[in-house]
Amino acid sequence: MAAQPAEVLVVGGGAIGLAVAYRLAERGAAVRVIDASGGRGASWAAAGMLAPVTEAAFGEEELTRLNLAAVPVFQRLAAELRERTGQPVGLRTEGTLAVAFNADDRAALDRLTDFRTGLGLSTQRLNGTATRALEPYLAAGVRGGVLAADDLSVDNRRYLGVLRSAAEAAGVSFVTAEITGLLHGATGVEGVRTATGDQLRAGTVVLCGGAATGALVRLPVHPVKGQILRLAVPERLRSAGPVLTRTVRGIVRGSEIYLVPRPGGEVVVGATSEQQGHDTGVTAGGVYELLRNAYELLPVSSEFSFVEARAGSRPGTPDNGPILGRLADGLVVATGHYRNGILLSALTADAVAALVQGEPVAPAWTPFHPERFASVAASQLPPRSTAEPASAGLTT
Ligand code: GLY
Repeated sequence: MAAQPAEVLVVGGGAIGLAVAYRLAERGAAVRVIDASGGRGASWAAAGMLAPVTEAAFGEEELTRLNLAAVPVFQRLAAELRERTGQPVGLRTEGTLAVAFNADDRAALDRLTDFRTGLGLSTQRLNGTATRALEPYLAAGVRGGVLAADDLSVDNRRYLGVLRSAAEAAGVSFVTAEITGLLHGATGVEGVRTATGDQLRAGTVVLCGGAATGALVRLPVHPVKGQILRLAVPERLRSAGPVLTRTVRGIVRGSEIYLVPRPGGEVVVGATSEQQGHDTGVTAGGVYELLRNAYELLPVSSEFSFVEARAGSRPGTPDNGPILGRLADGLVVATGHYRNGILLSALTADAVAALVQGEPVAPAWTPFHPERFASVAASQLPPRSTAEPASAGLTT
């Protein structure tokens, strides 16, 4: 008799959950994705930058290594998805231009250049004239820049749609429900409980719910709110050529700003970084700050049409690194991707598929095991109920 496929419940339908579900299904598992937001969480709000170095801080060498390893894996997944579905995910390869307005910014960019060069990445230092030759609409106050030519970006919403189509074609089913707890049994975690009292059972539960994961297990995942805008370049400006060719980022009035162009003429402007708990409301102040800073970087942006303002919760962790590993029998976690969820989604999917199927996980993941937070989890949260299994000590 043929073996039954492994049954897996994936909690979370963002980039991580969808990529995990697709990869597991493609490797033969029977997968259900459970998502409360209908796929409209942080991945939907995101800008889609695939920027392994500019999205990691100095000193985060292990995270930078992980981010760098993620780039070719993402590109391979994009090609695979195109082959499976016939649809492109909207990858752009023009790189990132980080700009400087003053001597302090310039010094920060010089440090970034040295860091990138040390990692063997292509980085080109530019004076003001050369910077504006690349992006002629930049503000006159831009004094110079650094071109990170191998940064990519992806249309995150297109990517999510293509991933979902590929997952469905591979047999993944989708349930809209809020998860309120885990089902513990004699063999470990055996499923999840929903807000309506339903119980969904499977051999393995994979937690990919981003900032909401901290409500289900004892892990220090906290929401970092990001407000983000979508603007559209009017046809009368586009007819003269692209207003923005590549991602541009800089510091304006002490806040980081990035502008990410899409092929259809949309420009994503991001993003605030706020500690507001699980609030994802858009505020007048957030929109004002983003529009003002976008104007200071790219004055012509005041002529763009306003399309959308949105906010999402980045899943932050104490060391800014993701959390990936087995928490108990039947329970795997992949969360805490903070500013790099889209970039890390393909690499995460491969690692989770390996874990679920009892194979070794790539060594780049070793520093990101949940056990590094075991003592934090134990000290910050109420004691476990004695009815629960002891396992890794991180489940609730
Ligand atoms: N990765 C961009 C952001 O988190 O704002």
